[in-house]
Amino acid sequence: MAIAGAATTSPFLGHIPFHFGKSSSLHFIHNSVCIFKVKALFWGSTRNVNPADNLLSYSQGDAGTREKRSICVFSSISEGSPGNPSSRSAGGAKRTVLITGVSRGLGKALALELAKRGHCIIGCGRSQDKLNALQAELASATYSASENKHLLMNVDVSLNSSVEEFARAVMEKKSVPDIIVNSAGAINRNNKLWEVPAEEFDSVIDTNLKGTANVLRHFIPLMLEKKQGVIINMSSAWGRSGAAQVAPYCASKWAVEGLTRSVAKELPPGMAAVALNPGVIYTDMLQSCFGNSASLYQTPESWAPVAANMILNLTIADNGASLSV
Ligand SMILES: NC(=O)c1ccc[n+]([C@@H]2O[C@H](COP(=O)([O-])OP(=O)(O)OC[C@H]3O[C@@H](n4cnc5c(N)ncnc54)[C@H](OP(=O)(O)O)[C@@H]3O)[C@@H](O)[C@H]2O)c1
Repeated sequence: MAIAGAATTSPFLGHIPFHFGKSSSLHFIHNSVCIFKVKALFWGSTRNVNPADNLLSYSQGDAGTREKRSICVFSSISEGSPGNPSSRSAGGAKRTVLITGVSRGLGKALALELAKRGHCIIGCGRSQDKLNALQAELASATYSASENKHLLMNVDVSLNSSVEEFARAVMEKKSVPDIIVNSAGAINRNNKLWEVPAEEFDSVIDTNLKGTANVLRHFIPLMLEKKQGVIINMSSAWGRSGAAQVAPYCASKWAVEGLTRSVAKELPPGMAAVALNPGVIYTDMLQSCFGNSASLYQTPESWAPVAANMILNLTIADNGASLSV
């Protein structure tokens, strides 16, 4: 039985919201035992979900992929409460974190979370008004004036020349990133591959794949001098599975996974690159592919502390891994 566009809170899974996209199907087996084939819950991973399963412990990686679930990383979750400087950056030095796509969504929430903890943000996006607003928000999230050295720039990551200019500006400020989070991303409007206009396909690949490569091309050389640094390339469950309606996006995220694993083999000791599936979070992007049921998912603000803990705790032992928040 196909259920088109319905959304519900599953009675079988307590608080965990379900979204049934066009391709979801519901099978009744024997009397009342039902198995949901859920495509959307993990962004496209088709999996028979038995209600008795513990979804939170489900590991998304393919065979041979190391998985780490940040769900367990709660030790420093209160780190950086603005009124408590002694707790700031607990367990680690202040880092300079470059995040692409900071004007909205996950990039913005992560930037604010890390700034609250005393880390310095270098960010980019294309919407100048949103960057201006974030600059002010970062300043008020930052504890002291000396920590308020955040740099936001209008950069289109899909353009090599724009990223090159970004790297030059960062170098002039002598603030080489310790951590890079390639979060800027785009998704195609839900459509079958043959109905996606060529320009839209290009735009998804240019942003998600070439954008990530552009950033690595211009920033890894800066990091090489210090022979240290961690690179996080935002992937997706749809970078590890297939899904109808979002083939260009899936293709771009599979490519990000391959790019990351390969670059990981090129980095010198002391550096690491990982692909990170952030989970399912209510942002403009989720709204685009899930429609109204996107609002059933966690907010970027509730996601950011967990993601920040995970990102700050990555080490060179994680090099080449495909991880999930
Ligand atoms: N939300 C989820 O549930 C989810 C799940 C799996 C993976 N992800 C991944 O997580 C990342 C963040 O997603 P999101 O949900 O936060 O998306 P979002 O809300 O749509 O935000 C996308 C961000 O990327 C920026 N951006 C897009 N194209 C850009 C370009 N060419 N140059 C520079 N910046 C650009 C946008 O800023 P401007 O428009 O100002 O340029 C915006 O800040 C993406 O890589 C996405 O694929 C998200």
